[in-house]
Amino acid sequence: MSLVCVADFKAHAQELLSKSSWDFIEGKADEGITYKDNIAAFKRIRLRPRYLRDVSEVDTRTTIQGQEISAPICIAPTAFHSIAWPDGERSTARAAQEADVCYITSIYASYTLEDIVAAAPRGLRWFQFCVQSDWELNRQLIRRAEALGFKALVITTDAPILGKRRQILRNHLNLEEKLKDLLPPEERNSIHLPSTSFCWNDLSLLQNITRLPIILKGILTKEDAELAMKHNVQGILVSNHGGRQLDEVPASIDALTEVVAAVKGKVEVYMDGGVRTGNDVLKALALGAKCIFLGRPILWGLAYKGEHGVKEVLNILKTELHTSMALSGCRSVAEISPDLIQFPRL
Ligand code: FNR
Repeated sequence: MSLVCVADFKAHAQELLSKSSWDFIEGKADEGITYKDNIAAFKRIRLRPRYLRDVSEVDTRTTIQGQEISAPICIAPTAFHSIAWPDGERSTARAAQEADVCYITSIYASYTLEDIVAAAPRGLRWFQFCVQSDWELNRQLIRRAEALGFKALVITTDAPILGKRRQILRNHLNLEEKLKDLLPPEERNSIHLPSTSFCWNDLSLLQNITRLPIILKGILTKEDAELAMKHNVQGILVSNHGGRQLDEVPASIDALTEVVAAVKGKVEVYMDGGVRTGNDVLKALALGAKCIFLGRPILWGLAYKGEHGVKEVLNILKTELHTSMALSGCRSVAEISPDLIQFPRL
């Protein structure tokens, strides 16, 4: 059977993966309300297409933090890609490089940063990390990321502790132990769980260490968006961690509007969570996101066929976005505007 949409990759991945790997990737918190709503909220939005525009040429290219990407469809940080495919993050990095999109590498990767960069030295890469309580370790990690050519630091804000993932408990999986086993041997002794005390005032400590742009991942409210700008960050990634952390927070696409309004164009705003179709990407951009990031769909692609599976997922979404743009009268990403969205929502 040919795989023609992202949902097809999900079905395939579930067949291919062991139950515990599948449950780790699905990983919804508590009752999975936010996990479901991330998808459902996109489907409550209707589009207002414009016709009789020349759409013989449609260009999906854009920029993030000043760097060009082939489409506003990039890769969110997810842990331990070797769960899905033995070559793990190295395959993901190669696929991202070939697709010419940004890959945010998680601090919890199953290969070292050096190995991942060696696999795809020309790809645009950002580094996601959870601030550790050991500041010397933070400094070393950031220096390593800088030396390896990562172009931004993505600080995860919504995971000072892990959310309660019922299925993982049912499988009797001790996630913290398992995580350690999945880290490359070189990192096992040095990487710890996130600091639970990191807060707004500590951001300046990071800014004293690095000049890399800082992107805060996990912001959902106007209050935190305003604080982010007050603390001079360069970007905000609106996210609820794919519904894996605090349950019953808004769907990312719903929170996006509030954050975009608070930011008033001063910094770039991105989003992740529940993006599965080209129309979803179009809606996120129309509501003010500069780019979207994909979490689980990348792991489904990896599980299906490694690097080639990830490339297929990215290509399918890029082609769908191209179609959605042509059918709604947008010839370039710059032409995707809030007028495309019907209000009030369903
Ligand atoms: C994640 N996510 C995540 N986020 C992060 O900042 N650091 C991490 O290490 C991880 N790890 C991780 C593992 C797995 C298996 C998943 C599914 C997710 C969250 C991720 O970056 C992103 O916010 C969501 O996955 C986006 O939602 P979708 O695209 O999965 O619906």
